[in-house]
Amino acid sequence: MRHGAVEGMQDMSEVVERWGSRRAFIIAVTGAAVGLGNIWRFPWMTGENGGAAFLMLYVVFLVLLGLPVMIAEIMIGRAGRRTPIQALTHLARDAGKSRHWGWLGLFCGVTLFFILSFYSVVSGWSIEYLVDALSGHFASQSPQEIGSAFDAFLASPGRVLFNHTLFLFLTMSVVALGVGGGLERLNNLLMPLLYLLLVLLVGYAFTTSGFTAALAWLFMPDLSALTPMAIFNAMGHAFFTLAVGAGALMTYGAYMPDDQSLPRAVVTVAILDVAVALMAGIAIFSIVFSQNMAPDSGPGLMFVTLPIAFADLPGGALWLGAFFVLLLLATWTSSINLAEPMVAMLGSLGMARWLAAVLIGVGVWLMGLPSALSFSIWSDVRPFGDMTLFDLATTLPIDIMLPIGGLLIAFFAAWVMEGTRASMAIGAGERFYRHWRAVVRWVSIPLLVVVLVGFFLS
Ligand code: TRP
Repeated sequence: MRHGAVEGMQDMSEVVERWGSRRAFIIAVTGAAVGLGNIWRFPWMTGENGGAAFLMLYVVFLVLLGLPVMIAEIMIGRAGRRTPIQALTHLARDAGKSRHWGWLGLFCGVTLFFILSFYSVVSGWSIEYLVDALSGHFASQSPQEIGSAFDAFLASPGRVLFNHTLFLFLTMSVVALGVGGGLERLNNLLMPLLYLLLVLLVGYAFTTSGFTAALAWLFMPDLSALTPMAIFNAMGHAFFTLAVGAGALMTYGAYMPDDQSLPRAVVTVAILDVAVALMAGIAIFSIVFSQNMAPDSGPGLMFVTLPIAFADLPGGALWLGAFFVLLLLATWTSSINLAEPMVAMLGSLGMARWLAAVLIGVGVWLMGLPSALSFSIWSDVRPFGDMTLFDLATTLPIDIMLPIGGLLIAFFAAWVMEGTRASMAIGAGERFYRHWRAVVRWVSIPLLVVVLVGFFLS
C-alpha cells in the first residue's frame, strides 16, 4: 500500500489510498511512537533530571504541546495528502500565503536525518545485546561485570560500527523496497508481546527490594530538581516520544479515511506510549535501587539494568533475548518512520526510490559516526562545554530541532491554514476545532517560544 501511494506522490497528485480501518491507523502511528524513546531514553532522562519532577514536566508538555502539535501535524498531512514539502507548499498556496512554507518540510527532513543517525547507532547496541543475551553471556555475570561489559563494548569502535551498519542496512532495505506495510503487520502481531513482557518485568520489579524506592523516585516530585535543563529535556522528549515535530506523521494523516476523528486516535496512541515508558521506568529503577546503582548513569542505564534483572529469573537468557528481539522490532518501525519521509521527499524530486534510499543511508551512516565513536576514539572531543559528541548528536535534534519544527508546524496549522479545511481534516467537528486552535494559539505556541527563548538565553 505504501509503495503505491508513494508512486502516486511522484507526479504531485494526491494520495488516494486509505487505511483500512481506524485500528490500522492507530497501529501504524503507535509503531512510529513506541521505540527507544520509551524504553531507553525515558529512563535515562528521568534518571538524569531528578525523577518525578522530570516525569511531571514531561506529562505536562505531552498534554500542552505534544498532543496539540501531533494533531496539527497529522492534520496537515491529511489535508495536503502529499509529502511534507508538497503538503505545506500546496496548503499555503491555497490559503493565499507564502509558498516558502515548503522550506519547513526541508527543515523537517534535516531533523529526521540527525535523529536517525544516532537512533541507528543505539539500535545497533540492542543488536549486540541480543546476541550476547542469546549466547548466555550475562547469566554468570555479577551486576558489576554487566556494567563494565557495557563500557567495554562502547569502547570498541569496530563492534559499535558493525551493528550501526547492520541496523541501518535493515532499515533502508525495507524503505527502498517499499515493504514497510509488511513489517507493520508483523509488528502488529508482536508488539502485544512486548507489552506483556514489560508487564512481567514490572511484576518482577515488585519482588525486588528497590520497588518502593523506584515508585517514590518516579512519582514523588522533588521540586528542587526542576532545573532549566530538566524543563528543556522534558519538552524535547515529549516531541521525540510521540514522533512529532519533524513532519514524519504527515504521511500517516495522508492515508487517513475521511470519516475518522483524529483526536481520539491520537489520545489512544499517547496513552499507549506513556504506558510503555512508565512500565520500563518502574522496572529499570527498581533494579537501580535494589542494586544500589546511580539513577543518573546515562545512556547505558537500560543496557546495564535489564540484563541484571533477567539474569535473576529462570530462563533469563531467553527472556532477555526475546526482549531485545521485540525492542529491535519496535525501533525498526520507528526508524522506518524516520527514513520514509526523507526518501519520499527525494522521490518527489523524481529520484528513483532505491537511489534515494541508498543516498540517505550513506549520509545517515556518516552522520552516525560521531555518535558511534563518541565513547571510544572521539571520547575527548568536546566542542561545547563538557558535552560529548553523543550528547550533542542527541540534544541538537531532540531538544532543539524538534521543538522548533513543532512550533512552526503548530503556527502553520493554527494561523496559516484555512480554517474550514483544517477543521475538516481534524474530523472532530467545528467546536473541537475552535478549542484546539485556541489551545495551540494561546498555550502551545507561547509556551514553546518561552522555553526555547529561555534556553537560548540561559
Ligand atoms: N518516537 C520514536 C521513539 O520514541 C522515535 C521516532 C520515530 C521519532 N519517528 C519519529 C521522533 C519522528 C521524532 C520524529 O523511539
